[in-house]
Amino acid sequence: MTVYRLAYLSRPAPGITAADVRAIAASAARRNGDLAVTGMLIHEFNRFIQLLEGPLEAIEALMTAIIADGRHTDIRIFLRQSAAAPSLSRWIMWSDFDRMAMSKHELELREEIVRAALESLAELDAERRYAGAAEDGAA
Ligand SMILES: Cc1cc2nc3c(=O)[nH]c(=O)nc-3n(C[C@H](O)[C@H](O)[C@H](O)COP(=O)(O)O)c2cc1C
Repeated sequence: MTVYRLAYLSRPAPGITAADVRAIAASAARRNGDLAVTGMLIHEFNRFIQLLEGPLEAIEALMTAIIADGRHTDIRIFLRQSAAAPSLSRWIMWSDFDRMAMSKHELELREEIVRAALESLAELDAERRYAGAAEDGAA
């Protein structure tokens, strides 16, 4: 079964509460299950990092809703790929507010996704510095 994988990072809206994050987790658990979507949502250190994997139409529909959601901003998609099979068999929420147990494989995948997100941020930083230097040069 070919699955589509997408991952992004974003910034939680100021003043987001544990109840907000639980409400997001509840929507995700219900809807992602209905759509045959697996993946993980990591909420920590004032950012969200999410991996979604499933049928292409399901991922597109979810991302349309997620991008329009005012509970976060600065959404940066850093991974899009297709894979022969999903890398997770369930939907996982990992929150600073509300932690839950994860298996060794799930923790390893979490590390991999966080590392890729951080690399993407470092790249963005470098792009901004480069743009800044170009502007300075033009002035
Ligand atoms: C960071 C973040 C991640 C989200 N992830 C999901 C998700 O994986 N699945 C989902 O259905 N909704 C997710 N949502 C919520 C959607 O934006 C939207 O509110 C929800 O799909 C609407 O569901 P409802 O019909 O239960 O109100 C997320 C929202 C945020 C802010």
